[in-house]
Amino acid sequence: MAFPPGFLDELRARISLSGLIGRRVKLERRGREHAGLCPFHHEKTPSFFVVEDKAFFHCFGCGAHGDAVGFLMRSENLDFIEAVERLATEAGIEMPRPSVEERQHAQKEKSLLDALEAACAYYEGQLWGPGGRAAREYLGSRGLDPETVRNFRLGWAPSDRGALSRALSREIPEALLIEAGLLKASEDGGAFGYFRDRILFPITDRRGRVIAFGGRVTAGGEPKYLNSPESPLFQKGRTLYGWARAAAALRAEPRRTPGGGGRLVVVEGYMDVLALHRAGFPTVVAPLGTALSDDQIALLWRLAPEPVLCFDGDSAGQNAAKRALRRALPLLRAGQSLSFAALPAGEDPDSLLRASGRTAFEEVLAAAQPLWKVLFQTELAALPTDTPERRADLENRLKAAAREIADAGVQRQFHRELMRAFNLVTRPPSSVRRPLAGKKPGAELELPPPPAPQPQRVQRVQREMLFSILLRSPELLGEVAEELCALDLREAELDTLRSLILETSRSQPGLDAQGLQQHLVRCGLAATVERLLKRSVDSDVLVRKSDGATARRAWDHVIGMLAAGGQRGLAEVASGILSEDSPESWQERVLAARERLLRQPPHIEEEGF
Ligand code: UTP
Ligand code: MN
Repeated sequence: MAFPPGFLDELRARISLSGLIGRRVKLERRGREHAGLCPFHHEKTPSFFVVEDKAFFHCFGCGAHGDAVGFLMRSENLDFIEAVERLATEAGIEMPRPSVEERQHAQKEKSLLDALEAACAYYEGQLWGPGGRAAREYLGSRGLDPETVRNFRLGWAPSDRGALSRALSREIPEALLIEAGLLKASEDGGAFGYFRDRILFPITDRRGRVIAFGGRVTAGGEPKYLNSPESPLFQKGRTLYGWARAAAALRAEPRRTPGGGGRLVVVEGYMDVLALHRAGFPTVVAPLGTALSDDQIALLWRLAPEPVLCFDGDSAGQNAAKRALRRALPLLRAGQSLSFAALPAGEDPDSLLRASGRTAFEEVLAAAQPLWKVLFQTELAALPTDTPERRADLENRLKAAAREIADAGVQRQFHRELMRAFNLVTRPPSSVRRPLAGKKPGAELELPPPPAPQPQRVQRVQREMLFSILLRSPELLGEVAEELCALDLREAELDTLRSLILETSRSQPGLDAQGLQQHLVRCGLAATVERLLKRSVDSDVLVRKSDGATARRAWDHVIGMLAAGGQRGLAEVASGILSEDSPESWQERVLAARERLLRQPPHIEEEGF
């Protein structure tokens, strides 16, 4: 709506800004200003100021700034017109009369909304009526209770093509039903139901009014989900499923995230939104089958400063999360970001909740990673970094990513953090090199003679063995990080693995074996991790045992073997075995080890280590 000149100024002049804000924020007078704790971020000392005579507020902590309209928009999740209406009512000013065009537009909108509401009620009736039995059973089999089904107003579209129009066309013109996307015109001039034989999920606007539907097949059939066509009311890229409910829940929820504001979870699917609600996480939204758009990201930020993306644990979901990251990058602001929670492979929030319960999902959320870290790890895992040129390429890609951020302050912080992580993982081995094989100081640059092919293979297996030990006993990292840095890795794969392990040990100290392995899988190293873990199944007892002391001994043995150029005698194996606790007799174990040694190296690949 267009406002006549002067209308907004008059509104601002009539409203006491400190009065308006004072209802939500405890304000103290400071000279000509009022100060208080900022409602838009978490703080302990006031940096939020209200300047009454200039009619604006400003927070020096998070940069929030605006007038009375802006304050209402932000604090109550209103759109511009809604905020103006609210203020006008309060100030006793009449809203300007809309133009003829505006009135027509509003009328059209209202009749479309009425049609959609009538259809929604009809489909709900179908679901709960005799014809909806199979659909109700299906929903029950998906773990949904009647309360959630009613709360979300799910419906059932029967297979009869004429059912909807028979039910509604007495009151609503067919043309309108077509325009609302509820009927589809057929070639013979008639019209038939757009949704047939589907469970319907009503999609609402921010005020909770039905603007479209998503429809799911219950048996097989394509497509699995069908959305209403786009209409003046419904644009997929500007809508989030569950927005109105999430906004209401966030207003009710105490602000508890570190950045202030409530916790908002973004999932991929309708079913995930419902499952989360059912499990007691009502602050959840989902896009509608398309990649998150700029508009949708902006909508998220209207609800919470750091929404957590929790997309499906398959490659499609992870790619969608990375695309969202790239989209959000230019839009980041101080205190405004996304974080990323990774689900176990093959799970979506719905399936995880059903299989492992609420606590498991809480854990997934608690392990969410900040955006910069996901960015770093994605770039790091994308290509090997085992040569100077490749490392320089990584550096360039990281810097380019930081440059995409429009906000100067955030850009600076990203640059700094990304370079710090980069320097850490690409620390040249020579700077921490230890005399592993009794080398003379200063001899690092001497190229060793190429090892004979057989020892080369043995050594590779030994290097892999070291990683296998770390994957099982990451608590060793604190003690062996230097040796790990100093390892001369010829395999790009292991080099990347080392970088990620080092970076992870810094950013998530105390991660256990499972946590580390899962993290690496999420970084794209699933195949490597799986291979390394499998390889060691048949290997030295020392590697298999996971208590710290044994792991350390195993590490020292293998490092020793590597240093000795891949050679090691039975005596050393035996001494390792002897110093270990095991129910098997030591003779048995030494004999087994001898067997293995004798078969080495020809069988080393098949044998594991
Ligand atoms: P999913 O295939 O993950 O569906 O697609 P889901 O929500 O987990 O549903 P169930 O558990 O299989 O029943 C995620 C979202 O992508 C959109 C829908 O919005 C869906 O919720 N989508 C999916 C479509 O629009 N069309 C499709 O054919 C499939
Ligand atoms: Mn899914």
